[in-house]
Amino acid sequence: MYWTKLQKQWNMEQCREDGFGSGNAPPESSGVKRGLMETLYWILLWCQLGLVLPVLIFLLFVKAPYGKFASDKTGLFRWDSRAAWLIMELPAFLTILVLFLLCPDRSGRRLTTVFLLFWECHYGYRTFVFPLLMKKSRKSFPAYIVFSAWFFNIMNGYINGYFLFFRRPGYEISWLTDLRFIAGAALFLWGFTIHVRSDARLRKLRKENGPGYYIPRGGLYEYVSNPNYLGEWIEWCGWALMTWSLPGLAFAAFTFANLFPRAVANHRWYREHFPDYPARRKAFLPGIL
Ligand SMILES: NC(=O)c1ccc[n+]([C@@H]2O[C@H](COP(=O)([O-])OP(=O)(O)OC[C@H]3O[C@@H](n4cnc5c(N)ncnc54)[C@H](OP(=O)(O)O)[C@@H]3O)[C@@H](O)[C@H]2O)c1
Repeated sequence: MYWTKLQKQWNMEQCREDGFGSGNAPPESSGVKRGLMETLYWILLWCQLGLVLPVLIFLLFVKAPYGKFASDKTGLFRWDSRAAWLIMELPAFLTILVLFLLCPDRSGRRLTTVFLLFWECHYGYRTFVFPLLMKKSRKSFPAYIVFSAWFFNIMNGYINGYFLFFRRPGYEISWLTDLRFIAGAALFLWGFTIHVRSDARLRKLRKENGPGYYIPRGGLYEYVSNPNYLGEWIEWCGWALMTWSLPGLAFAAFTFANLFPRAVANHRWYREHFPDYPARRKAFLPGIL
């Protein structure tokens, strides 16, 4: 009831089905609000794409001060890491959900619900399950990292959600049998499995050995220092493929820009702290990098 009212207020036209892959907006303007949403979409999309290279270069030189690189001197306000992860990732979980609920067109709902489920499968895990399972750490999180992650999560949730539910609600159900969707969904699920299982291997280290850092072993850890990052990047590459969208591509590129430098830093850290660290292990991509 509440959502129906809200949808009416947005005064949006029924989004028509257009050719898959074109991503065209409905041709006639349906009011100032829709126009603003459309403008915001393009601004944020170009902003995200434009940030990929600067972020990659910046993070190759500056390590975000949390986890292994935490320093109690950084940041005025600091949070417990479990609370920080929950607060940090919540906007990613909510932004796309709100856009899904606000979209007035229900004709493409069956397919867009599938996309929503994939997205929330990752962010439900990251926002609620990961912090809940993680061991309470003595290390805290600077609040400015949480707020900068908000900026990304809202921007990224908006461009992906707006694209899927407003610009492209006419996804036809036959897309579910398209090779791009099938391959993308398989890639996503494979990446998600690697991601979750690698996080679990790290948790097990502290469960068995107590607080501190240890050399992770088993699974993809035999090949790379950060399979949890690699798994996440594979997921979003799968997302880009299954949605066949520019926002999906922007997300996959940004994830690489964010996680690859961190993987390199973690890899160096392991080598510096563990003289017996396996020599053949790479940072991020097995056998390559
Ligand atoms: N999409 C993105 O752009 C993005 C960005 C950042 C993170 N993430 C995801 O968020 C998750 C967490 O990221 P993160 O950077 O915190 O990952 P991380 O450095 O691998 O740490 C994950 C957890 O394992 C613990 N841990 C790490 N190395 C350990 C070791 N050698 N021995 C024992 N425990 C260890 C950490 O404890 P401490 O906290 O005490 O170090 C933390 O609780 C990852 O799965 C990552 O993919 C995504």
